[in-house]
Amino acid sequence: MTDLPLHPAARASYDAVSRRLHWFMAALIALAFVLGLTIDAFPKDWKPVALETHKIAGIAALLLLIVRFGWRLTHRMPAQAESPAVLALAARAGHAALYVLMLIVPVIGLIYAIRRGQGFDFGLFSLPPLQAPEPRAVIRPLRERHEWAAYALIALAGLHTLAALWHHFVRKDDTLQRMLPEATQRPLKG
Ligand code: HEM
Ligand code: HEM
Repeated sequence: MTDLPLHPAARASYDAVSRRLHWFMAALIALAFVLGLTIDAFPKDWKPVALETHKIAGIAALLLLIVRFGWRLTHRMPAQAESPAVLALAARAGHAALYVLMLIVPVIGLIYAIRRGQGFDFGLFSLPPLQAPEPRAVIRPLRERHEWAAYALIALAGLHTLAALWHHFVRKDDTLQRMLPEATQRPLKG
């Protein structure tokens, strides 16, 4: 590693816990989304496995969201990139909306699964259904809300990814690097 001086505008990185939570949760959410959309395409014998994996990934993302939010409240997060006020506001609003959707999507999924009379099979242990299934017509709107909120989450995460790539390749600032493992965070040349 060379001893190049840090660029004067270089900012602190996200800490290791925030970075790991960010990437692990992004992977869990992507897995839950892909499985949610493809459950019906699985052969009959595999459907329960796909559905349970979907639910486990979603519940894990929900539990980690609580950890992440707690961590965020109790630790200093690095300053945002220098941008025109309107872009800085859009970034802040986008992150807040991602947090809200990361909460809403699995919570609706959880309520839907319970009201559909499903139990939970976590592999090592399982939970029986909490109630008898309600008629499909009654709970269909819940499933639709789960689905549409999931689309909104993935669409916003897609925009968020484009913004990260724009920072990296067009603005050439350190926004993306600060979310990557430390080994890739080289000092910037002036
Ligand atoms: C971030 C987390 C999650 C995402 C992105 C997600 C996404 C999706 C998507 C896109 C569908 C397909 C909707 C449809 O075709 O109607 C779906 C279905 C479903 N989800 Fe989730 N979901 C998540 C978490 C959860 C959780 C935590 C549970 C319950 C514990 C859950 C339970 C279900 C159920 C029961 C279905 C219906 C599956 C079927 O029978 O076809 N989801 N989800
Ligand atoms: C489901 C997918 C994703 C979700 C839900 C998500 C969510 C978030 C949230 C809420 C933040 C705010 C910081 C925090 O509190 O941790 C953040 C920051 C960040 N994310 Fe993501 N993210 C996702 C995927 C991605 C991907 C694929 C990339 C890059 C290609 C990326 C790059 C970044 C970067 C660079 C930051 C720091 C932004 C800044 O400092 O202003 N994210 N992400």
